[in-house]
Amino acid sequence: MTLAAAALLISAAHAAEPEPTPLVDQQHCMFCHTDNAAFLAPSFQQIAERYRNVPNAAAMLEHKLRMGGRAHWGDMAMPSPAERGGPLSAQDAHTLVQWVLSH
Ligand code: HEC
Repeated sequence: MTLAAAALLISAAHAAEPEPTPLVDQQHCMFCHTDNAAFLAPSFQQIAERYRNVPNAAAMLEHKLRMGGRAHWGDMAMPSPAERGGPLSAQDAHTLVQWVLSH
């Protein structure tokens, strides 16, 4: 097995959805978030945990990723897509939220 394949298997075991890396890079998600440790922002595992049993959480989060909204974790709201690296399509927001919630 190549190293790349091994790395893919490890990340697949960690999260059910593969990381949409180009989108994550373009929007600098990992500048503020990590998978499992609260840093400048809640970790993606904390977020997944919080919304696991919340109906319509995915739709709410997709809207928030694209349009912004009130802070749910503290005083600091997330910057808008334009400030993060460029506009975000509904499809891309969906992909990102599915990935975050699969943590
Ligand atoms: C400049 C820092 C920063 C960047 C870049 C960033 N975030 Fe955040 N994010 C935050 C902060 C701060 C919060 C907590 C905001 C709050 O209280 O609702 C947050 C919250 C969230 C939430 C939970 C929102 C809620 O209502 O509970 C999700 C989901 C999320 N981020 C996903 C992402 C994704 C996906 C990206 C990349 C597209 C990203 N973030 C990029 C800082 C950032």
